[in-house]
Amino acid sequence: MGFGVVGRALARLLLEEGERLAKRRGFRPIVVGVADSLGAAYDEGGLDMLEVLGAKERYGTVSKSSSGVRGMTGLELLGTVYADVVVEVTPTNLGDGEPGLTHIREALKSGMSVVTSNKGPLALAMPALMELARHRGAVLRFSGTVGGGTPVLDYGRRLSAGDYIEGVEGILNGTTNYILTRMTEGLEFQEALREAQERGYAERDPSMDLEGLDSACKLVIMANYVLGLKATLRDVEVKGIGGVTREEVAEAYHRDYAVKLVASIREDKLKVEPREVPRRSPLCVWGVLNAVTFKCRRLGEQTVVGRGAGGVETALSIIRDLAEVKRNLSGSLGGWA
Ligand SMILES: NC(=O)c1ccc[n+]([C@@H]2O[C@H](COP(=O)([O-])OP(=O)(O)OC[C@H]3O[C@@H](n4cnc5c(N)ncnc54)[C@H](OP(=O)(O)O)[C@@H]3O)[C@@H](O)[C@H]2O)c1
Repeated sequence: MGFGVVGRALARLLLEEGERLAKRRGFRPIVVGVADSLGAAYDEGGLDMLEVLGAKERYGTVSKSSSGVRGMTGLELLGTVYADVVVEVTPTNLGDGEPGLTHIREALKSGMSVVTSNKGPLALAMPALMELARHRGAVLRFSGTVGGGTPVLDYGRRLSAGDYIEGVEGILNGTTNYILTRMTEGLEFQEALREAQERGYAERDPSMDLEGLDSACKLVIMANYVLGLKATLRDVEVKGIGGVTREEVAEAYHRDYAVKLVASIREDKLKVEPREVPRRSPLCVWGVLNAVTFKCRRLGEQTVVGRGAGGVETALSIIRDLAEVKRNLSGSLGGWA
């Protein structure tokens, strides 16, 4: 579901890495259906993804490929073709989670597993979706929602299987971290934002990033998956970086601190706010990097640093999740939509 930046990067990776995945990992995903906002394409024998990519590039929709149906919705596609796994990569919508929420719910209800990079449905309804997946014996994976290609969630989950994680602090949004980094280097907020947009780090409407909502969604996902809390977006106290001035950032820097948009969980309280971080702390990363520190009772602090968002990075995390789903489904190989 969805054939934008992430969906197309995934299709290209599957074309390029198909042989290696089959040889080294023993799995060869077959794409039986694809939907975008204008229509869908499906073939139970497996789509020719090179042709589908070509149609999307030339005509703007997969429905113009030889297996395409103009106007067919993602939901209709789900009712038409069976797949072991649905990859949900439609836009994040924090209003009602749609269309992703319905796609994920309907797929899980039909017993199909789901891999998604769409934060909206998870931020709004993660406890219910996890429960639905469990109830239907399906797998729900979302590695790309936090940390892009860096397996932050899996790392935290592995840690929490042994030790007790008492708290989490993270810089989870590359856009705001880039802006704050450039403000440290002397730019005004508006200049730094414009530069981030020119470099493709910020959306044309950057409000979700700037207001802290993107970080809050990621925090909710981490709270559920790593700490086992039953949280949704409503449980997060959120403050964005709109009020941060260049003077504050400079003044903090002179005291060996950096102002960062920090997402934290402490005593089960979820918070996103601009906060000073010691410059020598491993959490203090610059530019578009992400970092997460897990505060463990016995192991102490464990920090993961890596590139956050990005089409290819997120597509790689989807492949990781697909491999995981395959392991969970005890080797059955069917279609992938
Ligand atoms: N890009 C990243 O670096 C990144 C990183 C992490 C997470 N994510 C998340 O991953 C998801 C996908 O990101 P993206 O960058 O690929 O977004 P995108 O480029 O905007 O692509 C979204 C895709 O969803 C399709 N779509 C919209 N409404 C639909 C509907 N009702 N039914 C079926 N398809 C529909 C769009 O169709 P059209 O092509 O016809 O417009 C488009 O193909 C988002 O939730 C995003 O927040 C992205």
